[in-house]
Amino acid sequence: MKALVLAGGRGTRLRPLTHTSAKQLVPVANKPVLFYGLEAIRDAGITEVGIITGDTGAEVRRAVGDGSRFGLRVTYIPQEAPLGLAHCVLIARSFLGEDPFVLYLGDNFLIDGIAGLVESFLSGGHDAQILLTRVAEPQYYGVAELGPDGEIVRLEEKPEHPASDLAIVGVYTFSPAVHDAVRAISPSARGELEITDAVQWLVDNGLRVHSHLVGGYWRDTGRLRDILECNRIVLERVEPGVAGTVDQLSEITGRVVVEAGAVVENSVIRGPAVIGSDTKIISSYVGPFTSIGSGCSVRGAEIEYSIVLDGSSIEGVSRIAHSLIGRNVEVSRAAGVSNTHELMVGDHSRIQVSA
Ligand code: DAU
Repeated sequence: MKALVLAGGRGTRLRPLTHTSAKQLVPVANKPVLFYGLEAIRDAGITEVGIITGDTGAEVRRAVGDGSRFGLRVTYIPQEAPLGLAHCVLIARSFLGEDPFVLYLGDNFLIDGIAGLVESFLSGGHDAQILLTRVAEPQYYGVAELGPDGEIVRLEEKPEHPASDLAIVGVYTFSPAVHDAVRAISPSARGELEITDAVQWLVDNGLRVHSHLVGGYWRDTGRLRDILECNRIVLERVEPGVAGTVDQLSEITGRVVVEAGAVVENSVIRGPAVIGSDTKIISSYVGPFTSIGSGCSVRGAEIEYSIVLDGSSIEGVSRIAHSLIGRNVEVSRAAGVSNTHELMVGDHSRIQVSA
């Protein structure tokens, strides 16, 4: 069994972060979302992993390396443009050979891992297994229509009028039969070779396609609120521990990780929260469900339910919430002028200020 992990694509919904960085490397509890997927693959007993990369390939390679730190052997497969999920399978043909494989979308997050799913595929003798879960807004996903006995009747990619609330989760398992399917289909209206169409092709051609309803927690982290929600879920399970220094004037409650080299002075940290290495939290409040990256500085500020990436500083501002702050960002109070916001913000940024 092999795995094909997709870490290319555009990530338009997480701009401006994804102008400069891969969306699969946005951190959840200070660890790139892609790493959770790689660990889940390893924990399912798979060691041979192909990673599809796009424009941000160099950054993905730098982060993952040869895969040995995950116990994996990684082969990189560059994709010339984001031509679709089924296109990724097409260009990975020689890497995949005649092995069954897991197709794992690098921005998907499953809290329960995939070991059970891989096992049920291997023992079930199916040609494809897809995972489904009930969602509130199925129009943003691939959607499945099931028959009375749970058989797949129809799959549709991001339908305007969804036939059900069953979304296709971004983890699929395939036998080599899928290679005929990805060669047979044509690009969709959005110009992509859709894996949804490839699975439909398998169904239409009488191959054994099994669907499995997942009950556990799953998120596609492509949107801000979903990545913040993932962060919340992971932080709720984090093992607390203080490797940095916390002074006597500070108060730490709940699950809090203070990484090595981090300094907390005269501050309140209400977990669950993670403070990254070499970060300074001075005279501030860090509230629940917050991850602050490495080398950051938070002074005289308040922040909760947010993710701050490495090297950023927040000074004299209250209160930041539901926010995703990129790398090396400065957020500070406008000097002198009251009720004035002074901004220098990248393209496609989104700012909501209290009036
Ligand atoms: O997250 C689940 C959904 O994922 C499914 O419900 C949909 O049926 C499926 O098509 C997919 O939809 P998305 O619109 O969310 O896919 P996205 O474009 O975000 O791509 C998923 C991952 O694959 C992401 O990590 C980027 C990568 N990718 C994407 C394309 C189109 C590539 O590496 N190459 C590509 O050509």
